[in-house]
Amino acid sequence: MALSALAVLDGTVLPADEATINVTDLGLLRGDGVFEVVKVYDGRPFALDDHLRRMANSAHNLRLEIDLSAVRADVDALLAEAGPVNGAIRFLVSRDGRRIGLVEAVPEIAPSVALARVEYVPPRILDGVKSLSYAGNMLAQRIAKEKGFDEALLVTPHGRVLEAPTSSFFASFDGETLVTPPLSDRVLDSITRRRLLSLLPHAREEVITYDSLGRVREAFLASTTREVQAVSRVDDTTFPDTPGALTRAAVDVFAAHVREEIAPA
Ligand SMILES: Cc1ncc(COP(=O)(O)O)c(C=O)c1O
Repeated sequence: MALSALAVLDGTVLPADEATINVTDLGLLRGDGVFEVVKVYDGRPFALDDHLRRMANSAHNLRLEIDLSAVRADVDALLAEAGPVNGAIRFLVSRDGRRIGLVEAVPEIAPSVALARVEYVPPRILDGVKSLSYAGNMLAQRIAKEKGFDEALLVTPHGRVLEAPTSSFFASFDGETLVTPPLSDRVLDSITRRRLLSLLPHAREEVITYDSLGRVREAFLASTTREVQAVSRVDDTTFPDTPGALTRAAVDVFAAHVREEIAPA
């Protein structure tokens, strides 16, 4: 079966095109539900516990009751059926309580990306919720692509850099330390970001303004599917080092960390 053709629906593994839900599900009608995407290396999920924990928090904040052990069992069933694949598992729980999991291919990650500023105000009420309501993030990506860029950089109307629509943003102003916007700016508590902050000795949270980007030496995006991906420029500001030494070190450190964590016991 093709990588993207496998699904699990409420505990039953089946071909994705046979997995159907009711059109009245509020997950569909309102984007009301929670989701996660976990990367799978040779059939082994990376940081699954972190993703399940974040899903539990999201559901709690959204006042959505979920059966986390059933979600975990779904993911395990999908992994068992998928075998030693390289890809990702997307899993979600809708307001109507449907548990859906899908095996997905991870698109080829380009060596670097150019970002376009897209104005964005995080909806405060969704703080701490990775909800199914992602149309704004997807639109930001589309707007950036319409302008000829690879990806969006979400920036508040007051000029604070937040993140990209599906990844966190790191930058270095001095070639020695890395900064990433603080969670208090309402960026997603990204699992990759959190791991990098603890793995990289000179990385910390700090507000980044759009106006300061002209002083950036190097920058990268970080996420489950991208891992670490160099950023070459934002709008017409090109960064001098792509990928810079800190970015290359982050790529290597993160890859080694993944290898170590998913290694068989
Ligand atoms: C808005 C946003 N920021 C950052 C990330 C990266 O998070 P993670 O490292 O947990 O994949 C994502 C991932 O989907 C995201 O949607």
